[in-house]
Amino acid sequence: MSEVYQETALTPLRVASLSGYRDWSWQPSMFKHYPNFLYRYKYEENPLLRMVELCRIVTSRLNSANQPYIQLNTPSAGNLHPVELYVQIRGIKGIISGIYHVNAGNGELVLIQEVEREGVESLVGLQKRCNGFIFLLSTVAFRSEWKYGLRAFRYCYLDAGHQLGAINAALKLYGREMTILSDFDAEAVNEFMAFRGDEFICAAMYSGDMSEKSVVAPKKNLMYVAATNYSELSEQTREHIAKSEILKSDILELSCEINEEQILKRRSARFFESESMTNIQVEYFMNILSKSNHSFSCYNIVLKDGVYKAGVYLNNRCIQEGHFAATMGSMLVEQSFVKNAEIVSVFCSKYFSSNKLMQAGAFVHALYLHAEVNALGCSGIGAFYDKKLQDFLGTQEYILYVSVLGVEKKRMQRECENEKN
Ligand SMILES: Cc1cc2nc3c(=O)[nH]c(=O)nc-3n(C[C@H](O)[C@H](O)[C@H](O)COP(=O)(O)O)c2cc1C
Repeated sequence: MSEVYQETALTPLRVASLSGYRDWSWQPSMFKHYPNFLYRYKYEENPLLRMVELCRIVTSRLNSANQPYIQLNTPSAGNLHPVELYVQIRGIKGIISGIYHVNAGNGELVLIQEVEREGVESLVGLQKRCNGFIFLLSTVAFRSEWKYGLRAFRYCYLDAGHQLGAINAALKLYGREMTILSDFDAEAVNEFMAFRGDEFICAAMYSGDMSEKSVVAPKKNLMYVAATNYSELSEQTREHIAKSEILKSDILELSCEINEEQILKRRSARFFESESMTNIQVEYFMNILSKSNHSFSCYNIVLKDGVYKAGVYLNNRCIQEGHFAATMGSMLVEQSFVKNAEIVSVFCSKYFSSNKLMQAGAFVHALYLHAEVNALGCSGIGAFYDKKLQDFLGTQEYILYVSVLGVEKKRMQRECENEKN
C-alpha cells in the first residue's frame, strides 16, 4: 500500500495540475437512483425508520452557480459524496423485510428486494437470520476522482469513515449497538449487489439480534443500476480499490450524548474566531485526541497559548514548542482559514490502508459531533502536503487525515463573509 500512498500524495506540482478549471455541469451524479417502480418509504413517513434516515440525510439545499448544492449530515471532501449506503431490515413490525437503498438525495428508502428465508446474512458471514439492521457501505470513486484524480482513493475511504461515524451516532441515539462484520468475501458481495466495477463494498455491520432461524444465500443477484450517470473511473483507481481491504476493526465509539438536532446541524467550520477556546474545552478535546487506545497516532498542534503552551503534542506531551499557525496554513495547501483555529490534529499510522483511512474518518466524525455538542467548530482536512507535513512532525508514519477545531464564527457572520467572497 505504500506505493498507493506515494501515488496519491500531494506535492505543489500535483496541486497545480489539479487546480485547473472544472465544468460543474460535468459533475457525475451524487446519488444513485433505483427505478421509480420499486416500492419506497419516504423519509418521515414511518417513525420506525427514523434511525436509518438519520444515518444519511440531506441537511441543506442551496444553489451555487445555477447548480443545486446539497449537503448531508456526513461531510465529504469537496462535497462530492463518493459513498452509497444500503440496509437490510428484517423483523421490524410495520416495515417490509428487505434490502433497501438509502437514497438521501430523494429522502427515501427504496426496497430493492424483499427477504425471508434468503438474506444478505449468509454473504457477510452471519449464520442465522438477523432481526434488525445490516448495513452495507460502498464507495463510488468516480464521483471524487472526477475532481481529485488519484487522491480520490483516500477521500473515498475517509468519507466512508465519516459515514460509519454517522451510522454509529444514529444507532447510539436509539440506544443500539453496532457490530462490524469483517470476515466475508467482498467480491461475492460486489457481485450480489451488481456493482460491476464502479462501486465496491467497503464495510458491513449489523445492529440486531440473531434468531434461531437459518438463512440461505440469495439465488439471484440484485438488479444492476449504475451509481452515476456516467463513469470514466481510471483503471489505476479501480485496481487500488478492488485490492483494498474492507473495514476490519472497531471504530472509536462516540463518547458523548447526542441528540437529533446536533446530528442534523453538523457542518464543516470555515471561519474561526481569533478568541480562544476555554481551558476546560481545550483539556476536554486534548484528552479525547490523546487517548492511547487509538489505532493510529495523533499529533496535536496547539496554535494558541493557554492551558497548553502553543506547540506540537504527542500523547499529551509537548515535543516542540512554538507558534505554528502560519506553518500549518501553508502545509495544509495554503488553507489560511485554519490559522485562527485552536488545535490542528494530524492522524498518522505505521500502515497505510483503506481500513486505517476509514478508522481515521470515523474518529474525525466523532470529533465533529463532540464539537457540535460543545458549540465549537470542526473540519476535516484532506488536502495537505504529505512529505512536508511528515518532515515537520519528524515522522516516517503515513499521514491519514487532519482535522481542525476551534471557536467558530457565528453562522450569520459566516454567511455574510461567504457572500462577500
Ligand atoms: C475527507 C474529507 C476531506 C476534506 N478536506 C477539506 C479540506 O482540505 N479543506 C476544507 O476546507 N474542507 C475539507 N473538508 C470539508 C468539506 O469541504 C465539507 O465536508 C463539504 O464541503 C461539505 O460541507 P459540510 O461538511 O458542511 O456538509 C473535507 C471533508 C472530508 C470528509
